[in-house]
Amino acid sequence: GSYALAVMFNEYPEEIYVARKDSPMILGVEDGKSYIASDVPAILKYTRNVYYIGNMEMARVRKGEITFYNLDGDEIEKELKTIDWNAEAAEKAGYEHFMMKEIHEQPKVVGDTINSVVKEDFIDLSNVGLSEEDIKEISQIYIVACGSAYHVGIAAQYVIEDLAKIPVRVELGSEFRYRNPLLDKNGLVVVISQSGETADSLAALREAKEKGVRTLGIVNVVGSSIAREADSVFYTLAGPEIAVATTKAYSTQLVATYALAIQFAKVRGEISEERYVELIEEVKTLPEKIAKILEDKERIQWFASKQVNAHDVFFVGRGIDYAICMEGSLKMKEISYIHSEAYAAGELKHGTISLIEDDILVVGVLTQPELYEKTISNMLECKSRGAYLMGLTTFGKYNIEDTADFTVYIPKTDPLFATSLAVIPLQLLGYYISVAKGLDVDKPRNLAKSVTVE
Ligand code: M6R
Repeated sequence: GSYALAVMFNEYPEEIYVARKDSPMILGVEDGKSYIASDVPAILKYTRNVYYIGNMEMARVRKGEITFYNLDGDEIEKELKTIDWNAEAAEKAGYEHFMMKEIHEQPKVVGDTINSVVKEDFIDLSNVGLSEEDIKEISQIYIVACGSAYHVGIAAQYVIEDLAKIPVRVELGSEFRYRNPLLDKNGLVVVISQSGETADSLAALREAKEKGVRTLGIVNVVGSSIAREADSVFYTLAGPEIAVATTKAYSTQLVATYALAIQFAKVRGEISEERYVELIEEVKTLPEKIAKILEDKERIQWFASKQVNAHDVFFVGRGIDYAICMEGSLKMKEISYIHSEAYAAGELKHGTISLIEDDILVVGVLTQPELYEKTISNMLECKSRGAYLMGLTTFGKYNIEDTADFTVYIPKTDPLFATSLAVIPLQLLGYYISVAKGLDVDKPRNLAKSVTVE
C-alpha cells in the first residue's frame, strides 16, 4: 500500500521518525523547529524552508534538524528548498472565506500564468520542456485528471482539437489507471492536477510512463509528486489554494491548456500567423474580463439568496458549454450540498427531462454562437415543464430574456476561451448559496483538499 508515517518511540523522546511511500509528505525547518505535513500550504505560516522526502526514504526529525536515510539506513543528502509562495498568500486578507479570496485572485493568477509563457506576440514553451520537434511528433493527446481538473480537460479537448487538429481523449484518473489503456507510442499523456498529489492522477501518470509514453504535468504545487515524475511540467501560477473547492487553480489550468493548444496549432501549421497573434491577444484580455465579471457579483448574490431551498439543479449546455456546466454543477454540489447535474442539453430528452417539474432551477449556458438556438430550445422544453430558468450568455445575446427568468452576461471573447469567463458566475453562485445556507464553505463535509488516497 501507500503510506506517510510519523512514528514516536518511548525510548527516544525529542525525535520523530518519518517514512513515505507514494503518499505525500514534506518537511520544514525554521528557528530550531521542525514541521511535518502533507503539503506546503499547511506549513507556510511557519516556514518556507522545505525538504521533499522521496519515495521509500526515511528521516529522523529533531528540533530544527532533519537527517535523511534510505531503506538500508544509509544517510542521504537532501537539498533544502525555499518556497516562493509567501505566508500572506495563505491568509484570508480580509475576505470572509478563502474561497472568496481565491475567486478574486483569478485575474492576477490567470495573468501570471499567461505571462509565464506568452512573450509579447509569441508563446515560448521552452520552460515547459516541449521543443518544436516534440510538438510535431504528437499523434494523440490523452488528458487524465480528476474532479475539476478533469473538467478543464473536457474544455481543453474542444480547444486543442479545434486549433491544433490533434485528436484528444479525456479520462478520469481512476478509470485510466485500471483499464490497461492502449496508448500510441507518439502520444502525449497530459496529467492535470492542482496539488500534484492526487493518487489516481499520479497512478495514471506512472501507468503512462510504464508504457513508454511521454508525459506532461500541468501542476500548481512545485516539487509535488506529479511535478517530479512527469517528463515535462507546465506550472500554473495560482499560488497556494486553501479552499477545498478549486477556483483559481482551475482557471490557471484552463489558460495553460489554451497556451498549449495555440502553440501546438502554430508549430504544426494549422493556423495562420495572423490567427496566432489574434488568439494570443485574446487570451491576454481574459484577466481584465474576469475582473469585470467580478464587479457585478452582487447580482449573483441576490439570485443565490433566492435559491437556498433548491433541492435539484440542472446545468445544461452543448459543446464547450457542457464542459462549463460540469464545473458549475460540481461547485454547486460540493459546497452548497444541493443535488445538481450537468447535462449535455441534447441528452435531456433521452431520460433526464422526466425529472423536470415545477420550480426546478435549470441553468442554461450559451456561450457558443452556433449552438445558441439549439440550447434555447432545450431550455424551452424545460420551461414548458415548469422549470425556472437562468441563462448565462455573452453580452449582445439579449433575446435570451425572452426565454430565461434570470440572465447573466459575460464579456465577449473567442468562443474557444469562453469557459474562463462563464465559470466565474457559477463559482459565485455556488459560493453565495453555501454562505446563505450557513455552511462551511472552505471545508465542505466529507472532502479533502488533496485526495491522496484512491
Ligand atoms: O489536486 P487536483 O487538481 O488533482 O485535485 C483534483 C480534484 O480532487 C479536485 O479538483 C476536486 O474535484 C475539487 N474539490 C473541486 O473543487
